[in-house]
Amino acid sequence: MANSSGVYSLFLLNLFLFGTMFSSATLFTLENRCSFTVWPGSLAGTGPALGDGGFALAPGSSSQLQPPPGWSGRFWGRTGCNFDNSGAGKCVTGNCGGGLKCTGGGEPPVSLVEFTLNGSDNKDFYDVSLVDGYNLGIAVKAIGGTGSCQYAGCVKDLNIDCPAELQMSDSGSVVACKSACAAFNTPEYCCTADHGTPQTCSPTKYSQLFKNACPTAYSYAYDDATSTMTCIGSDYVITFCPTES
Ligand SMILES: *[C@@H]1O[C@H](CO)[C@@H](O)[C@H](O)[C@H]1NC(C)=O
Repeated sequence: MANSSGVYSLFLLNLFLFGTMFSSATLFTLENRCSFTVWPGSLAGTGPALGDGGFALAPGSSSQLQPPPGWSGRFWGRTGCNFDNSGAGKCVTGNCGGGLKCTGGGEPPVSLVEFTLNGSDNKDFYDVSLVDGYNLGIAVKAIGGTGSCQYAGCVKDLNIDCPAELQMSDSGSVVACKSACAAFNTPEYCCTADHGTPQTCSPTKYSQLFKNACPTAYSYAYDDATSTMTCIGSDYVITFCPTES
């Protein structure tokens, strides 16, 4: 009798642990592995602004944000920012309206991480996108979920390998790499007009360059097959200047 009630309480304890482990909300950890300060920007599609829309992240430091279920939105890294005590100011790359606390998206060229939590079948959808260009290496790693939960991100610094015609420079150094669409504005590169479908918009030599630097990122608008990741019940680490894939 005592024995079976012992087994029963163990069963209850397990049920409790299982319940708390798998009902806990999603956690985002933003970490800066760059040798310089990054000012993450965040913009919500559905739900509240996380991290007040933006903040400073010193080299080697990290910050945790807790999105509510069903949250969707994006993160990006801003570089070369100058803000006064009131948060007014701007950044060399990834600049947004609102100063320190973004009220709009980052100005291209900018690398993005995009999330939709609790999508179909309760899956989280996430990707790294270079469709609006590249300013900083960025990656998403799923921690502890179930499903395919692939790593998404960059392995190389594309500012170093950016072709001259796509470079954005500041004080003599390349700080970002424009998308071919932004640089040339043609249907072929922008996937518009007669190139407006997945069938008629193909990779280009430029999108392939982006793909080589960041193999698991969107390099152009219809790059879906290799770029959208899904995971269930996971936390996510978003790394600026990732050193591993
Ligand atoms: C959303 O996903 C989280 C993490 O997977 C889960 O714990 C939560 O129950 C889901 N919420 C809803 C409303 O489906």
